[in-house]
Amino acid sequence: MTENNNREEWGSKIGLILAVAGNAVGLGNFLRFPVQAAQNGGGAFMIPYFLFFLLLGIPLMWIEWGIGRHGGKYGHGSAPGMFERLWNNPAAKYLGTLGLFISLVIMIYYTYIESWTLGFSFFSLTKMYFGEASFDSMKNFLYSYQGRFPAQFSSVGVSYIFLLITFAINFWVLYRGISKGIEKLAKIAMPLLFIFAIVLAIRVITLGVPDPSKPENSVMNGFAFIWNPNFAMLADPSIWLAAAGQIFFTLSVGMGTIHAYASYLKPKDDIALSALATSTTNEFAEVVLGGSIAIPAAVAFFGVAMTTQIALGGAFDLGFVSMSLIFGQIPFGQFFGFIWFLLLFFAGITSSVAMGQPVVAFLEDELGMSRKRAVTLLAVTVFVAVHFVVFFLKYGFLDEMDYWAGTFGLVVFALMETILFMWVFDSRKAWEEMNEGGDIQIPRVFYYIMKFVTPLVLMVVMGWWFINDAIPILLLENAAPENVPYIWGARILMLLICLGLFFLVRLAWKRKTAEQH
Ligand code: PHE
Repeated sequence: MTENNNREEWGSKIGLILAVAGNAVGLGNFLRFPVQAAQNGGGAFMIPYFLFFLLLGIPLMWIEWGIGRHGGKYGHGSAPGMFERLWNNPAAKYLGTLGLFISLVIMIYYTYIESWTLGFSFFSLTKMYFGEASFDSMKNFLYSYQGRFPAQFSSVGVSYIFLLITFAINFWVLYRGISKGIEKLAKIAMPLLFIFAIVLAIRVITLGVPDPSKPENSVMNGFAFIWNPNFAMLADPSIWLAAAGQIFFTLSVGMGTIHAYASYLKPKDDIALSALATSTTNEFAEVVLGGSIAIPAAVAFFGVAMTTQIALGGAFDLGFVSMSLIFGQIPFGQFFGFIWFLLLFFAGITSSVAMGQPVVAFLEDELGMSRKRAVTLLAVTVFVAVHFVVFFLKYGFLDEMDYWAGTFGLVVFALMETILFMWVFDSRKAWEEMNEGGDIQIPRVFYYIMKFVTPLVLMVVMGWWFINDAIPILLLENAAPENVPYIWGARILMLLICLGLFFLVRLAWKRKTAEQH
């Protein structure tokens, strides 16, 4: 029996592919990836990276599309209801709550970062940062914009305005719904994103040697910097964990967002090829485009030693500070700066709406709310919570949320869903579900990978992570003393969100049993 009566549906196949690609292609591809690659052994990083792409990324994509479309048949667009379809046990829906929690928590801080990109694309047009001549003064520009301390910006006010605009667009798109909102956005933003990225990559490749007196600072050395393999680094487990973390984050697996999108498929729509196509698109955007812009440009302008420092400083030093400095120096920097930050904004917004959809689907499907009410409730929650991120940014509030939801939580969720689908639900039924209506047949070897290798790798990664990172972080071993109260604040906030979601899940199921009687 299917109850898929009046759920929304995707308007077209290309729209669906663009929307899921938009979900996956995000700030992770253009900001996080180059820094991860540069920090973790360059070309050597690509070995664990592609290995995890094959053993975790692709299999989880198929699993999530499969669980999602299956749940959608029964009217479920979020993990609690989907997990119950796989495992007829009262605990299943509570395990599924993690799929709401992760995407919601990430949405809270991700939309704030996304709003910076909108701000900076505006500042590029108005040449506002063009006078900053040194790395330090540009960094002050960014930091004062973020409200860390007063410098070029006296307060967080301007940043707050861009946050409000970003917010409004996000929730407006969610309010418009699947085909009129998310799909339409993807159809506009994704092609533009690719055009902008290709234009920028070509601009970077043709930079040559910007300063003839320093021939070693060339784009070629930039590519060498990011891709020359340092195989000795493969002995370090932290590189393997970084590669696994990047695969998860960039493909948006282990969060509940792919499931939500897949739940709006028709029961016999293709999964096998669509999941593969969106993953490949994401990898192209990440490795080819993401790897060809920020790092090679930084080496060409600042040299290898400085770029190493920049990469150590993290994704924002590279994507905001170093790139802005370069735009201030090149011809048509105004234009290139504008399209770089707008590209980031498009990448960000097609991902952040995806983070909102699981909760919206949950409120609609399980609590019978109208879309308007569901989106409003989500907007109010995210809006209240984002204030902590805005005002406590410098105390590591964002990083704490990013670790538990954006790094650790998703591995836990991925392990749960793999076991539920491939073991509890039954691997043969799962395999049939994933291949049903497929435009291709998934290669048989993936049956064994999904059943045995993926869960095993996930357990190893999770265990390793737990011992290496989670325990020191949990015990605040490396935290600066002044940050400790704020880190606890972040934890309490996450706990409250988690409890609130548990409560809603309980409420939804109570109402359903009451209705049945
Ligand atoms: N995959 C997105 C990126 O690369 C991030 C994301 C996380 C998207 C969680 C959806 C859900 O930036």
